[in-house]
Amino acid sequence: MDTKLHIGIIGDIVGRAGRDMVIENLPYYKEKYNIDFVIANGENASGGFGLSKKNANELFSSGIDVISGGNHSFDKLEIIEFMDTMPILRPLNFPQNTPGSGIYYTKIKNKELAIINAMGHYGININLDNVYHKLEESIISLQKKNISNIIVDFHAEASSEKRIAFCLLRGRITALFGTHTHIGSDDLHIQNGSFYVSDIGLCGGYDGVIGMDYKVPLNKAMQGYGKGRFEVLENGNNIFQMIILELENGRCNNAFKIKKINDVELDSINAFNLES
Ligand SMILES: [Fe+2]
Ligand SMILES: [Fe+2]
Repeated sequence: MDTKLHIGIIGDIVGRAGRDMVIENLPYYKEKYNIDFVIANGENASGGFGLSKKNANELFSSGIDVISGGNHSFDKLEIIEFMDTMPILRPLNFPQNTPGSGIYYTKIKNKELAIINAMGHYGININLDNVYHKLEESIISLQKKNISNIIVDFHAEASSEKRIAFCLLRGRITALFGTHTHIGSDDLHIQNGSFYVSDIGLCGGYDGVIGMDYKVPLNKAMQGYGKGRFEVLENGNNIFQMIILELENGRCNNAFKIKKINDVELDSINAFNLES
C-alpha cells in the first residue's frame, strides 16, 4: 500500500490571469505527479482583492482542495457567508470574533492532515494576535490528537518572521511555506523532516508589480501621490508556479518546484535536504 502523500502548494493567485494559469496547468501537473491534495492562497484571486464565491468555485473545479488567505481575506465581504461551508481559511491569529477558521482538517488515503493559515505582523495593518503563540497552541493541540501531517501557510511580508516560525516548529510540522510577497524564493529545503520556503510566488501576471499593472504604483512612487486603484495585469507574460511535497508519516521526504512562464516550463528546483 502506498503510504506516501503528494501535496501541491500554490502561492497567491492574482486575478483572472492567475486563475487562468491555474485552470490551464493544474490538472496536467496533478495527474503527472499523482498529487493527492492541493492548497492555494486565494486572497487576491478576485480582481486582485479578496475572493468571490464564483471564483472560489472556479478554483475548486480546477483541482484546488483548500484555499488559504491573508490580509486581503475579507476584501470581498461576501466570503463571510460561505466560509463555514466551503474549505476556505483565513489566518488563525485574526482577532477572536473574526468569522471563519485558521485550521482545516481532512483525511486523505486514511491519513489525517491539518492545514494551518497564519499571518505575520510586519507591515500588516490588522490587530492580530501573536502569531507564534497561536501556532504553538495549535501544534500542541494537534499533537494531542495524534495528527502529524501539518502544513502551514505563513502569510507575511518579512522573511525573518517566516524563519522565526520555521525555527519554532521545525521537526514538529511537515511543511511551512510563505505567501504574500508574490515573489518566489529559491531557498526551498528540508530539515528535521520539515519543508521550508520563504515564498512560493504568485500565479498571474509577471510584467508589473506583484501581479498588478505598474502604472499606479509607479506614479505614486515618483510623485508621492497618485490617482486610481491597482489593476490586475491582463495581457502580458504570465507565470504558474507550484511546489510538490512528498510526505510520509508526518515528515516531508522530498520536494521540488515547478515553474512555467506562458507555455515554457523552466527547470524544476529540488529542495535540498540539510540532513543528507
Ligand atoms: Fe497576496
Ligand atoms: Fe497578502
